[in-house]
Amino acid sequence: MSNWVRICHLAELLPGECQTGWDGDTPIAVFNVDGEVYAIEDICTHDGSELTGGPVVGYEVECPRHGARFDVRTGAALCPRPTSRPRSFRSRSRTAGSTRAMIAE
Ligand code: FES
Repeated sequence: MSNWVRICHLAELLPGECQTGWDGDTPIAVFNVDGEVYAIEDICTHDGSELTGGPVVGYEVECPRHGARFDVRTGAALCPRPTSRPRSFRSRSRTAGSTRAMIAE
């Protein structure tokens, strides 16, 4: 049994965009940066806000609530406010028939 979870179709995730999916109770945000896909937990470690909905510039996503910034490749905080980093996940795209899905582990 695979630990990979389907997040969205690639067609729903254009370069510069992000989508959210769930692995049980864990929200996962996937980002398309220049055709490469990255996945981190969709929880800002400053005060628990969702990261999706915040602006994405290059490899950085900015929390829409207070502006903390994180590297979507690793979850690393790029400013002093957060005390920890969101979990990062391996991600990949997969083709099954005509369906291409964005999945994260
Ligand atoms: S909750 Fe994200 S910066 Fe405060």
